[in-house]
Amino acid sequence: MVKEKKRRIKIIGSGYYVPDKVLTNSDLEKMVDTSDEWIVTRTGIRERHVASDEQATSDLSVEACRRALEDAKLDIGDIDLILLATATPDTIFPSTACWVHYGLKAGNIPAFDISAGCTGFLYGLIISEALILNGQCKRILLVGGETLTKITNWKDRQTCVLFGDAAAAVVLKESHDDSGMISSYWKADGSLGSLLSLPAGGSRIPASMETVEKGLHYLQMKGNDVFKHAVKRMGEAAIAALKKAGLKKEDVDYLIPHQANIRIIDATGRRVNVPPEKVYSNIHKYGNVSVASIPIALYELKTEGKLKKGDIILMDAFGAGFTWAGIVYRW
Ligand code: ACO
Repeated sequence: MVKEKKRRIKIIGSGYYVPDKVLTNSDLEKMVDTSDEWIVTRTGIRERHVASDEQATSDLSVEACRRALEDAKLDIGDIDLILLATATPDTIFPSTACWVHYGLKAGNIPAFDISAGCTGFLYGLIISEALILNGQCKRILLVGGETLTKITNWKDRQTCVLFGDAAAAVVLKESHDDSGMISSYWKADGSLGSLLSLPAGGSRIPASMETVEKGLHYLQMKGNDVFKHAVKRMGEAAIAALKKAGLKKEDVDYLIPHQANIRIIDATGRRVNVPPEKVYSNIHKYGNVSVASIPIALYELKTEGKLKKGDIILMDAFGAGFTWAGIVYRW
């Protein structure tokens, strides 16, 4: 019996955008009781980009989308869905995808947001695969945009050193060769949601003077707990995705973990048993930019000429929810 070739989707263009303003660790030393040494040793972060007062998540995302479309040599008219992953939407509604739709003058194509914390970009790839392979869409514009500094409490040294702002986009279509998404694994555990959340401003705790006074409009995180779950689940997701692809750790050319903390990145590399030189990291330049971290890493690997055709990339993420996912991709 002839084995049917598995259909898959691939990236045909990519781009990213970070705001001009850079906040260094020495800038933070002047704002809270911290030090460059503490931040670098505990997180690996040296600097991060910060959106201006006028820039919302959709503004960064529109720019990233324009760059991805240009890279794919396509116009917005060639796209039939905009998918946007974020934890920092412009507004609760309309969706940030619709604000991006407006910015790109996208006619009447559908657009919606994915809320899956830092795992949102990988969830987006998995949703896109289903929509493209079942014939619903031909080309999808998937963007991960985040302005986490807008929900950061700049008086809380435990969280304000961690996050940055960025957006990154890819154009996806069906692959007609061996390249593209080979396997995926995605999970969630809602019982742990309160360990990393933005408590107020939704229907559970509507915004009020009191919520602002209590700082409930800022990101809240139990860092140590998140750390432990992240290491465990990212290891699980990477190994499971690799197994589903029928590949071994030796086949991996690059492991791209979500860039939350250099110690989580290194621990994930050790769990998957991939040598450090194959574990990609750029957290020193951007901090934790949530959904944008994996597509920026992909873009950098591509433009720095580090990827060759056939390379196996293992993407791995964990985020608020909790959510986690792994994807194996052949370049
Ligand atoms: N500067 C100096 N000291 C600090 C700072 C700081 N910025 N922050 C905390 N400390 C102190 C603490 O007060 C504590 O002091 P104490 O021992 O006197 O009480 C000490 O440093 C150790 O604090 P810990 O919280 O135990 O430090 P830890 O090594 O766990 O690092 C961190 C904290 C970096 C937050 C880590 O837990 C982490 O990275 N967690 C995961 C974060 C993450 O991955 N988030 C993911 C997703 S985000 C999203 O989805 C949007």
